[in-house]
Amino acid sequence: MARNPAAPKKPAKTKKAENASAPRTLRSQAWFGQADRNGFGHRSWMKNQGFPHHLFDGRPVIGICNTWSELTPCNAHFRIIAEHVKRGVYEAGGFPLEFPVFSTGETNLRPTAMLFRNLASMDVEEAIRANPMDGVVLLVGCDKTTPSLLMGAASCDLPTIALSGGPMLNGRYKGEHIGSGTHTWKFSEMVRAGEMTLQDFMAAESSNSRSAGHCMTMGTASTMASMVESIGMGLPTNAAILAADSRRNALAFMVGRRAVEMVRLDLKMSKILTRENFENAIRVNGAIGGSTNAVVHLLALAGRMGIDITLDDWDRLGKDVPCLVNLMPSGKYLMEDFFYAGGVPVVIRELAERGVLHKDALTVNGETIWENNKDAECWNRDVIFPYGKPFKKQGGIAVLQGNLCPNGAILKPSAASPKLMKHRGKAIVFESIEDLHARIDDPDLDCDENSVMVLKYCGPKGYPGMAEVGNMPLPKKVLEKGITDMVRISDARISGTAYGTVVLHVAPEAAAGGPLALVENGDWIDLDVKKRRLHLDVPVEELERRRNAWKGFESPHKSGYARLYVDHVLQADKGADFDFLVGTRGADVGRESH
Ligand code: FES
Repeated sequence: MARNPAAPKKPAKTKKAENASAPRTLRSQAWFGQADRNGFGHRSWMKNQGFPHHLFDGRPVIGICNTWSELTPCNAHFRIIAEHVKRGVYEAGGFPLEFPVFSTGETNLRPTAMLFRNLASMDVEEAIRANPMDGVVLLVGCDKTTPSLLMGAASCDLPTIALSGGPMLNGRYKGEHIGSGTHTWKFSEMVRAGEMTLQDFMAAESSNSRSAGHCMTMGTASTMASMVESIGMGLPTNAAILAADSRRNALAFMVGRRAVEMVRLDLKMSKILTRENFENAIRVNGAIGGSTNAVVHLLALAGRMGIDITLDDWDRLGKDVPCLVNLMPSGKYLMEDFFYAGGVPVVIRELAERGVLHKDALTVNGETIWENNKDAECWNRDVIFPYGKPFKKQGGIAVLQGNLCPNGAILKPSAASPKLMKHRGKAIVFESIEDLHARIDDPDLDCDENSVMVLKYCGPKGYPGMAEVGNMPLPKKVLEKGITDMVRISDARISGTAYGTVVLHVAPEAAAGGPLALVENGDWIDLDVKKRRLHLDVPVEELERRRNAWKGFESPHKSGYARLYVDHVLQADKGADFDFLVGTRGADVGRESH
């Protein structure tokens, strides 16, 4: 550890933050500060919880937005964390009030947690706006809980600080370190290839998840926790302190204290989430070998803040950033090792020293990102490599263009096979995820290791919810030859814990009439990652003929939330947010209660 994570070096005051400070009536006083019938109603019912009268005297009310749920195992320890946040709030003279929001647990929600990210963000936004709070602490952990809370809070724009729940301890199985998700994929492919018994596969389960916390690979949860830290929305060291480490609770205490100070300074999200902060996060994502899911989540968050970040920015900013972090799925270590090696502060220092980051970007503790991390020390150079001698030369996210993806597609070079980065192969097409499952083990499937697997109708509208199915299992007949990777293309996402030469987020998706819908078995497809090219080698006239014959896409969802989703979800290149949620709407309620 570079230093005590819970201790900002100075009481957080920068010029920017100080200038924002001014005596004013707090928002919560519109509820609690009235000497009338409404005030009676707002205070009296709250007092049934045992809150004494002086807590309603105009001190900052801090809402603790909690995604605790026993159905979200990665966040199941959040009631304890919330108690430590409350201690900090009280110590700083605030009044903490914890409230629940929709918890988007990755492992249990069907058909995919991503279907509910936007719904959860609406819950968060409306809960914050409708209730008496002056500042917010966001308790985030499992994959979608981080973006949904950030997005919802961004649309209200109160002083807000995020706190991640921390990763699990390393998985251990038969003397080996095993990683969340990464080994699930690996072991299940080994079972299919006849290299692992079903008994061993089942035994590995309990060794994989052996403490509180979220996935401990550099999957989406760890990536988004690192994004919280590098975009300035969390305190230094937010990402890597283990859930089981007492310093996670100490950090929670300091977050509570800081939330109160942020209200006094009126340090809103819009003062933190500037274009420079987004650019820093994109570059850090490259250096940590972060999840491709960060692309859709940060695009959606930028949309909420009215900041024009595009896929081109992802390619431009990440292209020259080397991958410094040797963590699964791109490397061999896990978040526990990353924490002991120094964590995100070391990565930030490495990048900032090379002039790769905006050093003066403001963070929630009132310090710049450089001030926060300039003294970070690395304790294990096999886990965090120096910038000048990186773990992998190419980090970042490659954004592909071509007639197969007119609005872009992405690929994570650090998780791909170098020999497949330039590849020409014949398409083997699956019309849906059910079609894939029905035929993938068919010994007569017309494909080999040089084929390009294409999966359709798994994008935002098609699935719906843009499921993490883009890392299609390889055909059994190919696996049995000892082949472990093939080029795969889809409009889906992949889990941040997955790996392979996988082209994702093809936009427009097949269900929206993108050219992906027109691909047929045997078509030649060219992938050239260096040239950022994805090309369907079919004559224009033939594509036109296929388009005219295309029957269109009819969603089976005719009512309910899924219908709302299909009707309003934007494409992957816009972050898959709802069209009507883009932008900041502020925290004004507009009317009093009656
Ligand atoms: Fe929750 Fe991976 S399943 S973080």
